Amino acid sequence: MIKFDKESGIFYLNTKSTTYAMGVWNGEKLLHRYWGKRLVNPLNKTDLGDYVARGFEAVDLQGGNSDIVPFEYSTFGNADMRIPSAEFRFSDGSRVSNLTYKGYEITDGKPALEGLPATYCEEGDKVETLTIHLEDTYQNVDVFLSYSVFEDFDAITRSTKIVNRGERLLLDSAMSATVDFYGSPDRELLHLDGAWMRERSIVRQPIVAGNQGINSRYGCSNMFHNPFIALCDKNADETTGDVYGFNLVYSGNFTAGAEKNPFNGLRAYIGINSTNFQFVLENGGSFRTPEAVMVYSSKGLGEMSRIYHKLYRTRLCRGKFRDTERFVLINNWEATYFDFNEDKIVAIAEKASKVGIDTMVLDDGWFSSRIDDTNGLGDWYENRDRLPNGLEGLAKRINALGMRFGLWFEPEMVNPGTELYKNHPDWILHTKGRKPSQARNQLTLDYSRDDVCDYIIDTLSGILSRANIEYIKWDMNRCMSEPGSAFWDGEHQGEVMHRYILGLYRVLETLTQRFPNVLFESCSSGGSRFDAGMLYYMPQTWTSDDSDAVERLKIQYGTSVVYPFSSMGAHVSAVPNHQVGRITSFDMRCNVAMAGQFGFELDLNKCTEEELKTAERAVKTYRELGEVFHKGDCYRLKSPFESDICAIEFVSEDKNTVILTVNCSKAMPNSPDEYILLDGLDETAVYTLDGTDKSFGGDYLMNIGWHFVNDRENQSELILFKKQKL
Ligand code: GLA
Repeated sequence: MIKFDKESGIFYLNTKSTTYAMGVWNGEKLLHRYWGKRLVNPLNKTDLGDYVARGFEAVDLQGGNSDIVPFEYSTFGNADMRIPSAEFRFSDGSRVSNLTYKGYEITDGKPALEGLPATYCEEGDKVETLTIHLEDTYQNVDVFLSYSVFEDFDAITRSTKIVNRGERLLLDSAMSATVDFYGSPDRELLHLDGAWMRERSIVRQPIVAGNQGINSRYGCSNMFHNPFIALCDKNADETTGDVYGFNLVYSGNFTAGAEKNPFNGLRAYIGINSTNFQFVLENGGSFRTPEAVMVYSSKGLGEMSRIYHKLYRTRLCRGKFRDTERFVLINNWEATYFDFNEDKIVAIAEKASKVGIDTMVLDDGWFSSRIDDTNGLGDWYENRDRLPNGLEGLAKRINALGMRFGLWFEPEMVNPGTELYKNHPDWILHTKGRKPSQARNQLTLDYSRDDVCDYIIDTLSGILSRANIEYIKWDMNRCMSEPGSAFWDGEHQGEVMHRYILGLYRVLETLTQRFPNVLFESCSSGGSRFDAGMLYYMPQTWTSDDSDAVERLKIQYGTSVVYPFSSMGAHVSAVPNHQVGRITSFDMRCNVAMAGQFGFELDLNKCTEEELKTAERAVKTYRELGEVFHKGDCYRLKSPFESDICAIEFVSEDKNTVILTVNCSKAMPNSPDEYILLDGLDETAVYTLDGTDKSFGGDYLMNIGWHFVNDRENQSELILFKKQKL
């Protein structure tokens, strides 16, 4: 899996179908050599000779620049003026550093990353870790590059650890990964952008000269950009072409992009954003970057996504709910907003239990003075006017219906009118002399402080221990501003935004370990913090506050570029839809939501008998097919970003069950015939259309396709094929 060829000084990191290679040049510099299809033959020791001669050797001779040399991890100041992998400020005022190769270690498996979420391996997995030691010998800084190779998953993860053995230094930036592609063909940069209620649209742009990329300085991975990029061949599509994916397992500020130089060299980078970031490293101090998950596919975007899906589903998500069937829940938010009491919630639950829904989730507004969004966050005790019998009483009534009870929290926030704020005005993120900006009337608690984190752990633990709560929706509805802390002194203010995220991770780790039977779902104004860091603690995320079935086609499709459908909370809501006013059929709403973690977000008491029957049928279907949606391979067949039709297929691992979902956002009269080509089937097998005696060859479905006519508004098909037994 990981091989070091001593003679050539080249490291080979081989997965099932890919190779990533680095080489030690002249015993001194670590250069990037290759990333792509699995190599059969070894690389030639001197392959890079031209680059090196024209690059950094030329620097020594004639003052050139080394921007063409593919470095594996490059620091500022050595005639390589591209975006650095790391930047330091040393006690002598210098910012120049120079890393030389010192040694390496290959170990079985994959160690955990201290305090950070990361992929992991299990007994029997073919996973090895290579750690390469680089050193700045003058300033006494060690840099350890870690690469974990998931052979069967076809993925490589990276992280960097910086250790100071010299005088106190300031770390100004530290990427999780940089990759120098050389002689690159025309490539495009793909990213997932959006806004509140239209998260993760697929954006693709040519990579032009200079630097281009995406950022977050909001303190969180956010709705505008997801911490993911892919570098794709210009012609790469779902099934063909080279694609290189980079995803950060991190929920805070990030930067990711590509810098192209005039010599066709391309440096891709991903890591923590350096704005307002500065870590003080005393002698002996260290800093660990978040993990970057890198996936190369020679078979287009679809293959890349399936690799991410499987890895995240099985080696990032953890706990009891990773593999078990999750809940079918009903949430009262769009049913009542802030206008509810105990009886109203029980009435919604009663109806829900009749159609087979198993969990009632009480959303925002159950606590203290929270009757609208102006107050209450931070005072986490029941509003007795609404819940006269408290959470215990309500949970008992819900349990008596044979349902679980779940609860909404927004534990990272406080409203200024609350007791929590009055008692601890310095517990918010703020900067001396600056008025703290409010967003949705709230301020952000300072999770860079241990005392704040401990308080939240204790408060939530108290509530979870007292009432029978089996699900938590963990919300976070604003980004950071004036991101300073009263706890940390002036020199450490640049650590606050990152320390906040570390604090959040500690809180989540403690609570999820302490309450292993509670299912946690993360949320942030919908899907604004949909990232791999969160999925490590909470296996599902509320995908978007836009619950319109047509809008959801795009949102879920875009999200699936990286994240599995099993991680997407998806609910059936009322029509006209509250976000866009659109009317879609109940069937379509069910079919679209069912691909994700299925639930409802409306008052079923207001539904017709017909709709209730559809809901009941959908819950049954979901219970039968959920495995295939969530554990099967997903093929995106038709993009809602390119036409009015969205087609996605799910194939069970044994290829015996195939679900094809086809949904139309707009009908066309007298529409042309569409044939949707399926993928991933056994071409020699025959598949029966469930509930009929019609059958189709796997080769027929993949080469001629499923006939579909787009002439009815709300057209929504959920087609089930079963492989015939021989
Ligand atoms: C956010 C969430 C919603 C809902 C509200 C409650 O916007 O995304 O689902 O929980 O908060 O205030």
